[in-house]
Amino acid sequence: MLEEERFAFRSDVDLTSLCLEGERIRLRSIHPRYAPAIFQEFTEEIALLMLPKPADDIEETLIFISTSIEGMQGGWDLALAILAQENEEFLGCCGLHGRGNPLTPELGIWLKKSAHGNKYGREAIGVLCGWALKNLIFDYLVYPADRKNVPSRKIPESMGGTVCEERKAPTMRGGFLDEVVYHLSKDQLVHHQARERPAPP
Ligand SMILES: CC(C)(COP(=O)(O)OP(=O)(O)OC[C@H]1O[C@@H](n2cnc3c(N)ncnc32)[C@H](O)[C@@H]1OP(=O)(O)O)[C@@H](O)C(=O)NCCC(=O)NCCS
Repeated sequence: MLEEERFAFRSDVDLTSLCLEGERIRLRSIHPRYAPAIFQEFTEEIALLMLPKPADDIEETLIFISTSIEGMQGGWDLALAILAQENEEFLGCCGLHGRGNPLTPELGIWLKKSAHGNKYGREAIGVLCGWALKNLIFDYLVYPADRKNVPSRKIPESMGGTVCEERKAPTMRGGFLDEVVYHLSKDQLVHHQARERPAPP
């Protein structure tokens, strides 16, 4: 990976040992300890409107995790486990991916089926965007979602994001997603953070 493909950091951070707190959730850097839960919960149903496909065996999940850790050590990728704050139950994963364009990093998220319906997705992406605002130099964040994926689309829409591109994206299963691509500007993110976490009086 080229030096210019690394995220531009505002200060020294170790992406492999992050722990970010939300109201109900906690985000921790991905680690092999989450492999069994990821392998079990990232099913065909969850991946239906996503680009990756579920792992065939746990070795494949471990390779995904070690590749993500290499990306975090290199400073061009960030992959986090989403955990329940009260007992660290595994809920899903989210991430921020440089994909060769570190000034416009791309957000991604999935939650296990039993955790759907609580707006944890919105909370996790909000926490991740807050971290990015504080720690990275970027132009805007990108959030792609399949046109039919209403719960996913509601995440960037709730933050003021607007559709800036439409594209067909090839999936690892050999099909295509009909993607709408939201851009989240720094102004929108700052406004959202202030609304979600107002400063104490
Ligand atoms: C996207 C995802 C993380 C959102 O999960 P979540 O935070 O639990 O979202 P919720 O289930 O709480 O729903 C959020 C909103 O979508 C709405 N919604 C949920 N399912 C819906 C459906 N099938 N049709 C229409 N609206 C739906 C909810 O009513 C809620 O609306 P509101 O905010 O206006 O009240 C989750 O659905 C997921 O993991 N999906 C599978 C993986 C995936 O597609 N990831 C995104 C790839 S871009």
